[in-house]
Amino acid sequence: MRIKRICDSVNVFGRIETDRLDEEDVDETIDYHLSNEIRDKCRELVLDNDKLRKIMEIFLDNVHRGLKRETHADSIVKCFPTYVQDLPNGTETGKFLALDLGGTNFRVLLIELSGEHFEMKSKIFAIPQHIMLGSGEQLFDHIAECLAIFVKEEQVADQRLPLGFTFSFPLAQKGLTKGILERWTKGFNCSNVVGNDVVQMLNEAIDRRGDVQIQVCAILNDTTGTLMSCAWKNHNTRIGLIVGTGSNACYVERQENAEMWDDVDMGSGKVSINLEWGAFGDDGALDFVRCEYDEDVDKNSINPGKQKHEKMISGMYMGELVRLALERFTKEGLLFGGKGSDMLFERGRFYTKYVSEIESDPPGVFNNLREICEELGLKHASEQDYINIRYICECISRRSAHLVSAGLATLLNKIGEKKVTIGIDGSVYRFHPHFHNLMMEKIKELCDPSIEFDLMLSEDGSGRGAALVAAVAARLYNQNSRT
Ligand code: GLC
Repeated sequence: MRIKRICDSVNVFGRIETDRLDEEDVDETIDYHLSNEIRDKCRELVLDNDKLRKIMEIFLDNVHRGLKRETHADSIVKCFPTYVQDLPNGTETGKFLALDLGGTNFRVLLIELSGEHFEMKSKIFAIPQHIMLGSGEQLFDHIAECLAIFVKEEQVADQRLPLGFTFSFPLAQKGLTKGILERWTKGFNCSNVVGNDVVQMLNEAIDRRGDVQIQVCAILNDTTGTLMSCAWKNHNTRIGLIVGTGSNACYVERQENAEMWDDVDMGSGKVSINLEWGAFGDDGALDFVRCEYDEDVDKNSINPGKQKHEKMISGMYMGELVRLALERFTKEGLLFGGKGSDMLFERGRFYTKYVSEIESDPPGVFNNLREICEELGLKHASEQDYINIRYICECISRRSAHLVSAGLATLLNKIGEKKVTIGIDGSVYRFHPHFHNLMMEKIKELCDPSIEFDLMLSEDGSGRGAALVAAVAARLYNQNSRT
C-alpha cells in the first residue's frame, strides 16, 4: 500500500505530466516521500523564474557586448559572425563531403543533395585520448588519414569534391573558409592550434599525404549546421541549439547589428551568429546561481574557470554533478545509510546517460535505477534512496533545461519575429526523456507571449548541415557571379 502511495505521488512529480510540474506541486506532493533534508539541500539547484529572468537580463547584455566592435574583444559571450549569410532554399544540388569534429566521435560523410532528396553515407572514427590531448599536427594528420580511408572506400578519391568542415569549438571566423581557434573546449586540448587557422591546418595535413583532393568550401560550428539542416525543411528556423557533450547556440541576426561582420553582403541582410554561450558566466556573472558541485566540476576539469555555463548544462558534466551531490549526501548520512561504494566515490563514474535512464523509468518504478545502483556497488540502496536519487537527478537535469530555456527565450525576444523554429541536436536533448517538455514549458513562461515557437529535432545537423553550408556557399557564389 505504501509503495502504491509513493507511486501515485511520484506520478505527479514525474516528468510525463510536465504541465503539473510547477514548484508548488512538487513541494506539496513530495513532502510525504522525499526526505526533507534532501529537498532542503537541493533548493539551491532550483532556479525560479526571478532568477531565470535575472539570468536573461545579464545574458542579453553579454550578447550585445559580443556583437559590438567596441566591446567585442573583452566580451565573454563571443558572438562570432559565421559568414553564413543565407539559409538553404531547397535548390541546392550535388555531391559533398563533410567532416564532423567536436563531440565524442569524429565522422566523415558523403552527401548527395538533389531538390528535396538527400542521401548520405558516413563513417565514424574514434579519436583516441592521446590525440585529443596531443599536438595539433597529430590531430590533423589523423583527420586527413580518416578522410583518405573514407574517400577510397566510397570510390570518390579521384574527384575534387567540395567539403564542409563542422568544427565545434570557438572559432573567430575571418571568412567562410578561415577560422582561428580561440580556445579548446570539452575534452580537447591539442597544442599549437589556438591562434591558428584550422582550415589551413587541415589543408596542410592533406597536402602532407598527397593522396586526396578536396576543396574546403566552409568551416562551421555544429550549432550552425543544426540551424541549416532544420532551415532546409522549415523556413522559420532562426536558432540552432546543441545540448550534447557541450552546449551552445547560434541565431540569425541582422547584418547591421553584427558589427564584427565585415564581408560583402550577398543580399540576405542577415548573418548567423555563433554565440559560444558555453562561456557565459566565466566572469562570475552566474556565481549567484552556481553551487559547490559546479565549483568542484570546474576545478577538476581540463579547463578550469572556463565554460561555466556549459558546465551547468551539458552532457560532459551532468552525471558528475549528480555524483557529487550523491557523494556529499552519502557522507552526510542522508543516502545509503551513510555507506557508499568505491565506484560512487570515483570521479566521472556516474555517467550522464544514467540520468536519462533513471528519469525514463515510469513514475514510481525504479528498474533502471536499481540496476545502476547494482552496477555501482550500491546493492544496499533502499526504496527511500531511490526516491531521493531520482529527485536529485531531476533537479540537475531540470536546472540544465531551465538555463537553456532562459537563453532561448532571450534570443526569441531579441529576434522579435512572431513565429520561430528552434533546431536542436545533442545527446542530452535527444535522450533525456523530459528535456523537450521542460524546455517548451519554461520558454513559454519566459518569452514574450506573442511569440510562437517550436522545438525541432535536427536530423544530423553536424553532417547534413556541413554539406548544406557548402552547398549554399556554392549557390550564392554562382548566383553572384551570374549577376
Ligand atoms: C562547446 C564548443 C562550441 C560547440 C558546443 C557544442 O561549447 O565551444 O563551439 O558548439 O560545445 O558542441
